[in-house]
Parts: sequence; C-alpha cells; structure tokens
Amino acid sequence: MVSAYEAQPPAQPSAQVLVASNRGPVSYTLGTDGSLDAKRGGGGLVSGLSAIDDKLWVCAALGDGDREAVRRGVGEPGVRMLDIDADVHADAYNGIANSVLWFVHHMLYQTPLEPVFDAEFRRQWASYEAYNRAFAEALAEEAGQGAAVLVQDYHLALVPGMLRELRPDLRIGHFSHTPWAPVDYFRLLPDDIAEQLLHGILGADRAAFLTRRWADAFIGCCTQILGGTGRTRIGVHGLGADADFLRRRAHEADVDERMAALREQTGPGRRTIVRVDRTELSKNIVRGLFAYRALLDERPEWRERVVHVAFAYPSRQDLAVYRDYTAEVRRVADEINAVYGTEGWMPVVLHVKDDFARSLAAYRLADVALVNPIRDGMNLVAKEIPVVSDHGCALVLSREAGAYEELGSDAVVVNPYDVSATAAALHEALTMAEDERAARTERLAAAAVALPPQQWFLDQLDALRRD
Ligand code: F6P
Repeated sequence: MVSAYEAQPPAQPSAQVLVASNRGPVSYTLGTDGSLDAKRGGGGLVSGLSAIDDKLWVCAALGDGDREAVRRGVGEPGVRMLDIDADVHADAYNGIANSVLWFVHHMLYQTPLEPVFDAEFRRQWASYEAYNRAFAEALAEEAGQGAAVLVQDYHLALVPGMLRELRPDLRIGHFSHTPWAPVDYFRLLPDDIAEQLLHGILGADRAAFLTRRWADAFIGCCTQILGGTGRTRIGVHGLGADADFLRRRAHEADVDERMAALREQTGPGRRTIVRVDRTELSKNIVRGLFAYRALLDERPEWRERVVHVAFAYPSRQDLAVYRDYTAEVRRVADEINAVYGTEGWMPVVLHVKDDFARSLAAYRLADVALVNPIRDGMNLVAKEIPVVSDHGCALVLSREAGAYEELGSDAVVVNPYDVSATAAALHEALTMAEDERAARTERLAAAAVALPPQQWFLDQLDALRRD
C-alpha cells in the first residue's frame, strides 16, 4: 500500500516517550503574505505532557497552514506533523471519526434514519485505515527500543494493533477521552468494523479511560463481541483541573477587563447561570436554553433578576449537522431574548467567538454553572468553574458526564433530557443558601483537582511501564 503521509526525516529517531493524537499542540495559519503564524493549543494533554522533557508528539496536519509548515520544514522541537493526503484525512476525521465513532460513543444517532453503512461508508473506512496506518508507521520509525507510546482517542483506534505488528518491542497505551458506548449501541456498527476497532485498541498493553463506567462499557463490548480483553490491561485515570494554572491565569488583567465587560452586559446585581462549551452536539446547549426558558416561564420571579451567560464556541464546522446545531443555538437564544427581554435586561448573553480570558471571567462570576451534556467523557468545565469561582457557585450537572462520578455528590444532578427537571434544578441552584453553596464549592474544587494533568499523564506512563 502507498503510504498516506509524506516522508519526513525523523526529528528524534530514538524518542522514549511518544504521544499520538489527531490534533497536535500547535497549529499554523498561512498569512496572505505567505507568512506562517504558529498558535499553541491548551487542554489536558498539553499540560499533562509538560511534565516530560524528552518526548515526541506525533499529530496530523489539519489545515493548509499546517501542511505548508510541514512542506517548508517549519516545526516545533518534539512535534512531528504528518502531512496526510487532505482527502484521506477529511474522510477519516470528518467522515469516520466525527460522524460515526463520535456518534456511536455519544449515542447521538436519530436511529430511524441513521446510521447507514453503505459503499460510501466503506470507502471512508479505507481512508480511516490509511490514516491510522500513517500514524503507526511514523511512530514505528521514531520510537526508540522499548519506548512508551501513548495513543489518544477514537481517531486512532487502529494504531495500537498496527504498531504492535510493526514494533513488538514497544509499550503501547491507548487512552479514550470520550465515553465508550454500551454494547447494544456499539453493535450498530457493522460486525467486522466493531471487531476491527476492538482488536485495534486491544493491540495496546493498556487501554485507559476517564471513568470506571466507560472502562466497563469497553470491557462489556470486548467480552460480548470478542469473548474477552485478551492480555490488554484496563486502566482508569480521571483527568482533573489544573488549579495552579487556572487560578493564576484567571487573575490576569485581561480577565479582569472581560469581567467588567460581562458585568456591563448582565447588569449589576443580577444572578448568572454560566455555561461554556464547544458548540458540540453532545453538550446539550439547546435543551439548556429550553430549561432556562422554562424557568423564566414557570417562575416569573426570576425575570430581570437572572442572566444566562452562554458561551458556545465553534466546533467541527465542516459538518452540516454542527452548522445546523449552531444555528439552532442562536435561534433559541434570540427567541428567548425576543419573548422575555425588557428595556434593561437581556435574558441570554450568548457569545460564539472563542475567548479563553472571557471564559475565565465567566467562571469567576458564575452563581450557577450549567453542565448538562447528553453524554461526555469527563467535562472539564464542571471541574474548572468551582476552582476559579470568586464567590462559590452551585453546579447543575448531568449524570451522563464523566465528571458526575467525582462531583455528583456536591452537584445538583440532572437527567439531561428532562428539561422540566433541569429548570427545577436551576431554581434549586439559584436559591441555594450561601453557606451551603460555599461548602459545596470547596468540596467540588477539592475533588476537581485530585488528579492534575501532569500527574494524570505520569500515572499512565508509570502504569504502562510497570504492568
Ligand atoms: O473531548 C474528547 C475529545 O476527543 C478531546 O480529546 C479532543 O480535544 C476533542 O474531543 C476533539 O475535538 P476536535 O475534533 O475539535 O479535535
């Protein structure tokens, strides 16, 4: 088979710790004058990996800027970007990873009409295999003898098995940042594909998950479909919030400025219900708005006294279903403002442009945090808000978020589909006594930082080398 990526000389031919993920720690934009602008990303994996000095991060070039950077040989030390053919990548990332595997693990299909596994699916699946093979080949080429390789997520589910064949000497881990589907739902996939995915991950020495629930679901799939998990060990590592970074960053001048601007928008003295999400189908933003509308409808005493501050940042806009969902979020927010808004009160303050400083500002002033996903691997926002909040905040939390396992006892817990119950939970959160709210926030923050990103990564590495 022709390799799907362009050859590139290994930057560090004998790396001892390697990480592989679709999205890397840096991305490039190509200016009109031909210049390349590098932007460093954040997130748990980036913070976690900062604990390791000598490592290699293998990722895919995602856009034209990234591809141009690879072609010009521009890059960061310790990062190797794979210039996988753009069509192959689009089929693998948008077609399979985001439109099939993400939907399966988050149980997002409207099953009367979807999914449909036809010839087009098989064509895209071949691209997914080629894309996984490109990663496996690059890792095989870069890894030192006996190195530890940590493969991330559903994008790269076939990599452990492929890499095992190329390099039996390596210690291979796979980590799922998503939920894992229950077996009955996982079986929506064609039988051979379901088996191939499980075998792919079981090529690893260790397969790890964010919660016990997702690990058990994976074991259930392996047991029922393959008859067991073979020699692969199963681990659970519940990624926590990075308290030191967040607390420091949340008190920088740009965050203070944005707090003042937000206060201006919400109006002084009003309560805030804050949510911060990517505009992701699984985040349940629309039902969150419905619940807020029900609160205003059923408990008119809250009108003019509360503002729903909703940040819904762009995600996966190549997919029509994400564009439609984004439009629906805007439509419902506008409708609530049109129906309930008054001269000096805008009931929903919606921002759709990603701004980390403004997110932290909202975290600090939140009275209530609304985290109501349909299904979520962990949900770090649920952990970050209690850590950063200035005056304590009540957390309304979906029982389908991974974070529920650790935070459920101090949150107001909701079934994410039950809009009426979510409205009642918002009321309960808004009326929670000050001392109770403060005590709960303290416990939530302590639970949220139990496993900071660096420790989370080191624990996985230790376990991989030890087991
Ligand atoms: O939340 C699960 C997750 O797989 C993260 O690990 C990852 O950051 C994200 O989803 C992928 O999003 P995107 O498609 O924007 O790269």
